[in-house]
Parts: sequence; C-alpha cells; structure tokens
Amino acid sequence: MAAAALTFEGFGGVALAADAWGSPDDPTVLLLHGGGQTRRSWRQAGQALAAAGRYAVAVDLRGHGDSDWPADGRYDLTAFAKDLRAVLAQLPTRPAVVGASIGGLAALAALTDGGESLASALVLIDAAPWVDTAGSQRLAGLMRRHAEGFASLDEAAAAASELSPRRRPADPQTLRAQMRCEGGRYYWRWDPRFLTGFDMASVADLEASVGALKLPTLVMHGQASTVVTETEMARFHTLMPTAEFAEVEGAGHLVAAEQADAFNALLLEFLERRAPRAPLVFDEGSDPRTLRDALGSFATGVVVITARDAAGAPVGLTANSFTSVSLDPPLILFCVAKTAGSLAALEQSRAFAVNVLHIGQQPASALFSKPGADRFSATPWEAWDSGTPILTNSLASIDCDAHARHDGGDHVIFIGRVRHARFEPRRDPLLYFRGRYRRLHFA
Ligand SMILES: Cc1cc2nc3c(=O)[nH]c(=O)nc-3n(C[C@H](O)[C@H](O)[C@H](O)COP(=O)(O)O)c2cc1C
Repeated sequence: MAAAALTFEGFGGVALAADAWGSPDDPTVLLLHGGGQTRRSWRQAGQALAAAGRYAVAVDLRGHGDSDWPADGRYDLTAFAKDLRAVLAQLPTRPAVVGASIGGLAALAALTDGGESLASALVLIDAAPWVDTAGSQRLAGLMRRHAEGFASLDEAAAAASELSPRRRPADPQTLRAQMRCEGGRYYWRWDPRFLTGFDMASVADLEASVGALKLPTLVMHGQASTVVTETEMARFHTLMPTAEFAEVEGAGHLVAAEQADAFNALLLEFLERRAPRAPLVFDEGSDPRTLRDALGSFATGVVVITARDAAGAPVGLTANSFTSVSLDPPLILFCVAKTAGSLAALEQSRAFAVNVLHIGQQPASALFSKPGADRFSATPWEAWDSGTPILTNSLASIDCDAHARHDGGDHVIFIGRVRHARFEPRRDPLLYFRGRYRRLHFA
C-alpha cells in the first residue's frame, strides 16, 4: 500500500513532512519517531493500521527526514511539543498519538495539560522522563559517531546493526535512498545540531505531570532496552496507576523496528479497546473538540467576511458559520469568535460583506484564517460604492448593512441586511467538511 505525502506547518513555520496510509475518514493514529530516525521507520505499522481501518499519519520530526532543519537550531523539548500541537490542530479529528523515544517525550509534553481535548489515546514506546544513565549515554555516544558520517554504505549498515542489533541487518543498497551523500561521505537524514539542542535534563520536569494525564495510555517498552529498563518502568507503574503496560520480548530501544509484528499486534489491540472505531459521542460537559468534530459532520461552503476598521483599513476573516436567514426582509447571519482579532472592527462597522469562495480560492481561505498573515496585499480586492472591501471574482459577494448583533456564547452572532449581491453562476464552490476542504461531486 503506497503512502500519501502530506506537509504540516510546525512551530515557527517549520515545514514537517509526513506519510499517510488509509482513508482520512477513519480514526487517525499519529506516529512520532525517535531522535535520529525518520517517518520511514513506521512503514510497516502504518500499513498494518490502515488495514485495520485506521488513518495512520507518520510525521518527520523537525530536523529529521524531509522536514525542515530550523534556521535557529531549536531542538528543545518545547519546540518538539509545539510542533506536535500544531500538527494536532491540522488533523481532521483527535488522533491516538503514538510516540517512540523522543517522539513519546514530545507527546507527553504536549498532552499532559488538557491532552484529552487534543488526542484520544497515548502510546509511549520506550519513552520515559527518566532514563538509565549508562544506557542513554552509550546511545548518545553512538549517535555522535553517526553524525560524523560514513565512508561507505557498508560502514553505515554496520553502524545501524550496532545501534539496533536485533533488527534484520540493513541492505547497504536500500540505505542509499535513506542517506545524504556529501563530500564523498554518507550521512543519515538528520541534523547533527539536534544532538546538542536536545537536553535530557529538561525532560525531568515531565515527571511531575505524567500522573495528571487523563488519556487512555499504553506504556510499551523493549524487554532488552538499555535506555528504559525495569527500574524506569517501575517508576511509571507508581506514577500512572491507571495506565496499561506492555513489555515486548526480544526488542531493545527501537521496539517497532525490532519486533514489528508483536508491536503492531499490541498497538492494534490497545486501540480497539481504548480508542474504538465506534461512533463518537458528545454529551454536555464533554470536551469542546468532540463537539467541534460532531458539528463538522455538517458540510458547508466557505466565506471570507470583510469590512473596514475605524481607520478605514480593510479587515477580513475566513468563516463557515454563514447562513441565510430571511428573504423579506433580506437577512443573513454569521458568527465570529470573541477571540477573533477582527471582532472589534466588525462590531464598530456599519457595513460588511460576505464573500462566498469558489474552488480556486482555497489559498484565500487559508490566508484569511492564518493569524498574523498580510491578508489583503496577497489577495485581489476592490471597494464597492459602499466602501466595503470585496474579494474580486468570488463565487458571490454579498454587501450588507449591519442589522443586529446577538450574544452567542463564545461567539457573536452578526445579522446583516443585504443591500447588494453579485454572484457568478458558472463556478464550483469551495466546500468544508470534517475539518478539510472538499470539492463538489455530482453522482
Ligand atoms: C473553514 C474555516 C471556517 C472558519 N469559520 C469561522 C467562523 O465561522 N467564525 C470564526 O470566528 N472563525 C472561523 N474560522 C477561524 C478564523 O478564520 C481564524 O481564527 C482567523 O485567524 C481569525 O482571524 P482574526 O483573528 O484576524 O479575526 C474559520 C476557519 C476556517 C479555516
């Protein structure tokens, strides 16, 4: 089964490459590799998850694989955790997060505070806020040697076997595609600055918060791991009495690679029990993300609301909360979050426009929903007689007088009285469904 290539925007605009297996309509499982690995280490797991009816997404951590190497060299735990939170916000539904080693620590850092609204379950693989000092120093030493590169692919294959002796030896020719060749030497696809940028001491802070995790959690470890040993696992048992634990026989630190079948079986069995494929349920008091996902079952078009602020500068934001209300008098409504930067300008404006986007205006939708973006200089617009800014050649532009405003919980409901509307009958709309842009399909 071939993987689909995806890109996410991480913390500070760092581009993160990803592979996805299965259908995005199935429950998502997000896979995070360890330091010095890449998303390719999840190929078998991704395929097994897709075959079991899951949508598996494996991301290259910053500075690894095909993801950006950040210019500022930030490889601290906070940066990895912020990348993860950014990826979670871009996924269609709350995923189960599976993190190996540093990927698992990033997941812990991102999910200990309110993680239940961001993820449905957590699987940690040989990842603990406390490690065996001798074992982790040996691993760090090996990686420092790897960072210096190899004179040949055979030498790289031998080094890979030394790092992970239980794995089937790598075929030097297969390694060719996975390595960078520079100045006649072969290097793994990761930024060596990561070795100094990641401070294991910062991870100790996580110890205080693991007990507060409210997610269904599975802690897996390799029975022969020298990084997370029985001593570290005993500490997990004490601090996380409700977590599940699994020891994988014949596996060291790189559990998923060294015992792929056993690993996949444990993972799938845990997900079936704790993050089942049954319909999701929202009850009042459940987390808002589940409600958002439930309401996302209603397919909508996409609009950009435009107006002018008190100084006359154009303002606008992407919205899908647009509805027609009345034909006589002609009324429409939309809802704006009380946290939106455009709210104040919309509240003081006596007029605004609703621009219904066509299929070619997805970039405008992305721009008008991105905080801090220079929205109007990158989008063609014009002013109508009323002075309201209008996105040129939209599917429809509906110029309104502000008619009424109502409180709507964490949103403000704006009602507009339509003064003038122009529409283009020959183009297809941009649609939005389950957190993703869609296009019309005619049966
Ligand atoms: C498809 C889509 C629909 C959205 N619908 C709304 C909406 O109805 N109301 C809202 O307040 N924000 C909505 N947003 C989010 C805003 O566009 C986003 O928060 C934006 O950054 C707000 O800009 P501002 O803070 O400059 O006002 C939507 C975003 C997208 C991508």
